[in-house]
Amino acid sequence: MKILVATSNSDKLVEYKKALSIPEIELMLPEESIDVIEDCNTLMENSRLKGIAYFNRFKLPVLADDTGLFVHALNGAPGVHSARYSTKGTYDANVIKLLKELEGITERRAFFETVIFFKSDEKSEYFFSGKCHGTILSERTCSEGFGYDPVFLPDGYELSFSQITLEEKNRISHRGLAVAKFKKFISHHKDIIK
Ligand code: IMP
Repeated sequence: MKILVATSNSDKLVEYKKALSIPEIELMLPEESIDVIEDCNTLMENSRLKGIAYFNRFKLPVLADDTGLFVHALNGAPGVHSARYSTKGTYDANVIKLLKELEGITERRAFFETVIFFKSDEKSEYFFSGKCHGTILSERTCSEGFGYDPVFLPDGYELSFSQITLEEKNRISHRGLAVAKFKKFISHHKDIIK
């Protein structure tokens, strides 16, 4: 069973492969990425937009997702705009902007949310979501790391997302929880993928 992961982000594929280890399922990256403009207002709409574009092009079961970091003190920003929060849009520039926006603010609660869209044929459409609550640290815990990981402290932890192992992150993270729901679903419905 082949499932296309609608992304060109190899960080994401690594996380998916670790989290979704079902022997019968082979996760693949597309031969070429499609430039989908994710300009919707919700994670659900954006993930669907991306998933439909890849399904229509490659005619394979597709898994697409959209994630946002929602910071309470910033009225939910960066939210659906998490990838393009700063003008430059790099992980580094996004983190710098976030820390600047939160300078002097003590209320630093935030959550990550992921919505996964899955489409296995012309008719079907499924959604799975996961959330992870935590706080934004006042400085980075390391110089590099996936997205906002270096400044996100998950609830109940003393280490940021970049300081814990990928196995641990997958166990508690927004994406990990959404993938777990998808994994449960697909394990019970293997017939829908040929
Ligand atoms: P995407 O929808 O998965 O591409 O995520 C949008 C943006 O959110 C990414 O460009 C990252 O900056 C950020 N992001 C997504 N997932 C994570 C995560 O697990 N940790 C930190 N940042 C993330």
